[in-house]
Amino acid sequence: MCGVLREISPRVRSIKPLQSSVVALRAGQIEEELTQGVKKSFRQLINLIWGDPQSAGIKPLTFVRQVLSACLYPQLLDNDRLPADARQRAKALLSECQGGSLGSYTDLPGIPQVVREISDFITRRDGGVPSYPENILLAPGSQWALQNILNLLVHGGGGAGGGDGAVRSGVLTPVPTHVTSIMSLMGLGGVSVPYYLSEEQGWKVEVEELNRALEAAKPMCNPVAIYIINPGNPSGHVQSRKSIQDVIRFASEKRLFLLADEVYQDCIYKENIEFVSYKRVLAEMGPPFSNTVELASFHSTSKGFLGECGLRGGYVELVNMDPAVMKHVFTIFSKDNTPTPSQIALSVMANPPQPGDPSYSLYAVETQQIRTTVTGNVRRVHEVLSSLPGVSSQPVEGGAFAFPRLNLPSKAIRTAKELKMEPDTFYCLRLLENTGACIAPGSEYGQKDGTYHIRFCITAKRDKIEDLLTRLVAFHTQFMDEFS
Ligand SMILES: Cc1ncc(COP(=O)(O)O)c(C=O)c1O
Repeated sequence: MCGVLREISPRVRSIKPLQSSVVALRAGQIEEELTQGVKKSFRQLINLIWGDPQSAGIKPLTFVRQVLSACLYPQLLDNDRLPADARQRAKALLSECQGGSLGSYTDLPGIPQVVREISDFITRRDGGVPSYPENILLAPGSQWALQNILNLLVHGGGGAGGGDGAVRSGVLTPVPTHVTSIMSLMGLGGVSVPYYLSEEQGWKVEVEELNRALEAAKPMCNPVAIYIINPGNPSGHVQSRKSIQDVIRFASEKRLFLLADEVYQDCIYKENIEFVSYKRVLAEMGPPFSNTVELASFHSTSKGFLGECGLRGGYVELVNMDPAVMKHVFTIFSKDNTPTPSQIALSVMANPPQPGDPSYSLYAVETQQIRTTVTGNVRRVHEVLSSLPGVSSQPVEGGAFAFPRLNLPSKAIRTAKELKMEPDTFYCLRLLENTGACIAPGSEYGQKDGTYHIRFCITAKRDKIEDLLTRLVAFHTQFMDEFS
């Protein structure tokens, strides 16, 4: 290797590239080929590989954009084409920005009004369990907040990446999982300790499996935390109160820090299922759990009905942190100011228009439309997938993805292996080449050996979902015939 950067850190080298980026990369090339007039059996790609609602045709909520516009272009503050409550919100937020401008840096942890709004939102969400602004930190995306907390928790040790010879820290991570979190962990030299979700039971978390994973990890690393995604990505599972209690008891007994990734908390699709936060359950369990188990809960503007991925707004709420540690938390968060537009989106997420406000009815209509669309998508996807031979699917209770299992014929598996490819990557690449549909292989998110899955986003406009399903059905039937 030449150039100034001759030695890439072994920690960075140890991060596995995303499998779906192989698919995404090819999708980019195909897009280019289509623009250059190369003839294909399809005219357009359909890309549902990422959980990005707006790229999948979901419209941004008007109120978010109105408040943002007025903050960014204060001449609009007196323009009555914007509703009074949007202008009022913008004025209030700007009054707490340095110099009254969104163009200024904000102090840690963020615009004070935004932090107060988040804390009030959490208290309401959790049925009155108090939340305190001083325990909330904003970040440019929840992933960034997670990375910062991992930075404090994880010791890279003397393994890959060098270090001072101490044992590397381990974090129990679900399989399947949101892979970027594993990348953050690996980048810090931590060890990802896999615990398998039970697919047969709708991707449930099982305490016996947590115990097995922990014991298996002990010779390799020092387990310090457990990472949970609820509702799950890509599993679509929503944990019950009882399941959350079990995990909290486990974390308490094994002295593990709880990392609760709750970015899909608004995305619940099944009747009689509700999202309950780790913070709430912890408080309800009372001492010794409520005052000892350390918890970080993450939320984001990227998901749910805001779907503002590009604005990168996230926060973490910390519970039961030692004040001495909290000082370091502030230090590590102080190196990155959260961009002010992200903070505006967080303000609206935490404090949307209320009944009686001028913007309430439009906000209610828009969010209900998205909810109806996505709930309908979940039903439709389930209907179609269950009619496909060799495909089985657990119910999607929440989150942003369908994650069906493929029972691939052995000839297809053999062919993929000959090509040095994971069988589900082979399936996704063939689907892309033949139909222009871009989805992700399950191997990217982790899966039990010998099982294969695909993942696609369901927080999308209905016609995109229909288009994807049409292409998938035609391809799947032909693929199964070819390799049977
Ligand atoms: C489970 C989970 N956590 C975090 C994120 C990232 O959120 P953000 O955009 O706030 O960084 C995602 C994005 O897909 C996710 O699926």
